[in-house]
Amino acid sequence: MATTIALITGANKGIGFETARQLGARGVTVLAGARDAARGRQAEQALRDALAGQEGTEARYVPLDVTDAKSAQEAADWIDREYGRLDILVNNAAIAIGGGAPSQTDLDAMREAYETNVFGVIAVTNAMLPLLRRAPAARIVNVSSEVGSITATTDPASPLGQMPASLAYPSSKSALNMITAMYAKELRGTPVKVNAANPGYTATDLNRHSGFRSVAEGAEASVYLATLGPDGPSGLLWGHLWTADGPADAYGPLPW
Ligand SMILES: NC(=O)c1ccc[n+]([C@@H]2O[C@H](COP(=O)([O-])OP(=O)(O)OC[C@H]3O[C@@H](n4cnc5c(N)ncnc54)[C@H](OP(=O)(O)O)[C@@H]3O)[C@@H](O)[C@H]2O)c1
Repeated sequence: MATTIALITGANKGIGFETARQLGARGVTVLAGARDAARGRQAEQALRDALAGQEGTEARYVPLDVTDAKSAQEAADWIDREYGRLDILVNNAAIAIGGGAPSQTDLDAMREAYETNVFGVIAVTNAMLPLLRRAPAARIVNVSSEVGSITATTDPASPLGQMPASLAYPSSKSALNMITAMYAKELRGTPVKVNAANPGYTATDLNRHSGFRSVAEGAEASVYLATLGPDGPSGLLWGHLWTADGPADAYGPLPW
């Protein structure tokens, strides 16, 4: 059977690294995207160590700054030369800057957040799509967030409804949700499935480790959506369900 090839952006740490590790543990060849060469090589070695003994698995670092369209195209060209196709794309890289009240928004910080969290996803997806279309049943996972759910944010009964108002990061994830729905629409009728993952509030550098979930738990939604079978959904926001009184480990579709 042919090996499954997965590219994970921002895979040098946090949920991205763990997503690569979990996919690798399932026998997937993992291409770990990283914008910094030293951090990328370190992640490659850490993945190889973690996956040692796992038959058929390969872990390789790919230079990839998602804010640089040239870098995305070079990564696609390299994957084309090495593998000729791509089975799984996990658009995981993101930054959380530009917090604070909407009335105090720093537009430069907001633009920076959108460059990575929104435009970066489009640049990488469009560079990789020719390779994804060549795979028998490609999966695209956009790592989004429940904080991008307008329904949850405006529901006073939801823990998300209690969070302080801010613009850059939450609205970038709302945009990513619509982008996910639109790619799913374009690719309807093809074997490619496109979904958005909600890791849940996970302890990583992104939130100075204030999250209450482990990276192993945070990566679960991405891995689930990356390995959907032929009857799986496309065009969903899916992952951890954070409710005021529900179980701590519930998963499922989230409202947009
Ligand atoms: N943690 C949470 O509670 C939580 C909740 C919901 C959703 N998410 C989402 O989960 C994903 C992973 O976040 P995380 O919590 O694991 O954060 P993290 O630990 O800060 O990791 C973010 C990763 O993205 C990379 N990155 C940032 N800008 C990049 C760029 N321009 N090009 C390439 N890579 C870039 C970082 O690389 P460097 O090391 O070079 O900076 C790092 O590898 C994000 O999409 C985030 O929005 C996280």
